[in-house]
Amino acid sequence: MMQIVETIVELQQVLRRWREAGENIAFVPTMGNLHAGHISLVNAAHSKARRVVVSIFVNPTQFGPEEDYDAYPRTLEADTQQLREAKVDLLFLPTKKIMYPAGASTQIIVTGLSEHYCGASRPGHFSGVATVVAKLFNIVQPDIALFGEKDFQQLTIIRKMVGDLNIPVILQGIATVREADGLALSSRNSYLTSDQRKIAPLLYQSLCQVKARIMAGESDYATIEAECCLTLKQAGFEPDYIAICREADLQPAQANDTHLMVLAAARLGKPRLIDNIAAKATKQ
Ligand code: PAJ
Repeated sequence: MMQIVETIVELQQVLRRWREAGENIAFVPTMGNLHAGHISLVNAAHSKARRVVVSIFVNPTQFGPEEDYDAYPRTLEADTQQLREAKVDLLFLPTKKIMYPAGASTQIIVTGLSEHYCGASRPGHFSGVATVVAKLFNIVQPDIALFGEKDFQQLTIIRKMVGDLNIPVILQGIATVREADGLALSSRNSYLTSDQRKIAPLLYQSLCQVKARIMAGESDYATIEAECCLTLKQAGFEPDYIAICREADLQPAQANDTHLMVLAAARLGKPRLIDNIAAKATKQ
């Protein structure tokens, strides 16, 4: 039976009982409108811990003033049903007032990473994410927390925060779940028109091409990035960035780096789609 709680006091009562019984806890934070990507995190969580806690909270501080906070899809009934079927033990549904009581004024900023890529076009976004995730970690105190590699910059920022602040949690990244045609599942895919939906898989296809070129030994990364950008533009995307970077810290890749990550964000009509792919460069 999945328990649903809205307050921190109720949540912690349940967690205390589990801890007293020696049960470990895996945590999956979400903003709801759940799809198979979220459920794969839940399934992985079951393989890691006895108890699985999920939160749904559309976090206002990670949305810019012109962004889709009000329009963000809220589908609580369907979400609850999916989480029940996925055998989640506890669903935490805090209100805005519980997460941000009047007067709260502390923010976490992971400098050096938050300003680039998605952070450049979404100022303040990653401090909103880092702050809410740190709060949720303090509230739930999980043994392990699971995040999707789909949001690779977010995962990297959370890893940095956990290390820098000595937060006692193990982080686990989970592979991106995709549609059959390669499009990464995302709550924002519902904003695509049917014509845009047909074009959308090109983002992942382009990333696969970039990966193939890197693996074949091409090393003029600026040219690869520019050509990928052009392909996307010609198909109707407005690319935000295509960046070949080091997997470990997401700094721009240098000639000797081997473990690379290609990050991409591009607007297609209303939504801005993001995706990424890992690529191993072969060096002579
Ligand atoms: P949300 O977009 O709801 O995503 C919740 C988790 O699901 C994140 O870890 C995200 O990376 C993962 N996820 C999303 N799409 C995925 C896919 N196609 N395959 C695998 N995993 C996927 O990310 C957030 O919420 C918020 O920023 C949050 C961390 C909850 C803080 O508010």
